[in-house]
Amino acid sequence: MIRQKATHVHWHHGNISRADRHRFLRQKGATLWFTGLSASGKSTIAVALEEALYERGKLSYRLDGDNIRLGINRNLGFSAEDRTENIRRIGEISKLFVDAGLLVLSSFISPYRADRDRVREQHRDAGFDFIEIHVDCSLETAEQRDPKGLYKKARAGQIKNFTGINAPYEEPESPEIHLHSDRMTLAEEVETIVNYMKDKGIIHID
Ligand code: ADX
Repeated sequence: MIRQKATHVHWHHGNISRADRHRFLRQKGATLWFTGLSASGKSTIAVALEEALYERGKLSYRLDGDNIRLGINRNLGFSAEDRTENIRRIGEISKLFVDAGLLVLSSFISPYRADRDRVREQHRDAGFDFIEIHVDCSLETAEQRDPKGLYKKARAGQIKNFTGINAPYEEPESPEIHLHSDRMTLAEEVETIVNYMKDKGIIHID
């Protein structure tokens, strides 16, 4: 747990509440957290889900590993410590967006269970929904897909600490949603998530 460094700082409340924002946007914020190996399909599913939600009149926003690492987290690499800090920051950013009222689609390998659980707890403590989605596919499939050629490079010893090859991936024990991207279609995956969101009252289609 990162220690609070600055002292004499307090949360400043405004006059427009979270509930006011929900009424304004006609939706309630929540984080949908996609975890899985590189090339498992996290970002592809998030992009398709974003579109499906938009068509239903719901606003979402994607936070994606590569994008975030090109900006706010450009000073982080792939050591265990840096990945933990990567996830901590994204967890905080997700919370801010949820507080704003958005459906946040966060796609990060997030290989460490403890890091994901910490984000889950922070959401729970703030009264926010956190839906962990395991985008499961075998290492063999991910390696065959290899859209960025990174597995090949890692096998050739050109990338250190590559998840699945020479760095760990700790599978979720009880994710809210478990997708098998090596045997489900993209449409089935999106439908599974949308149905879950409807069942749990995260989205009401009106
Ligand atoms: S995480 O482990 O800290 O959650 P994150 O999702 O932000 O990772 O970034 C993963 C992306 O960075 C991968 O999809 C891949 O494109 C790229 N990448 C570059 N080096 C590595 C590495 N050593 N391990 C995993 N992914 C890497």
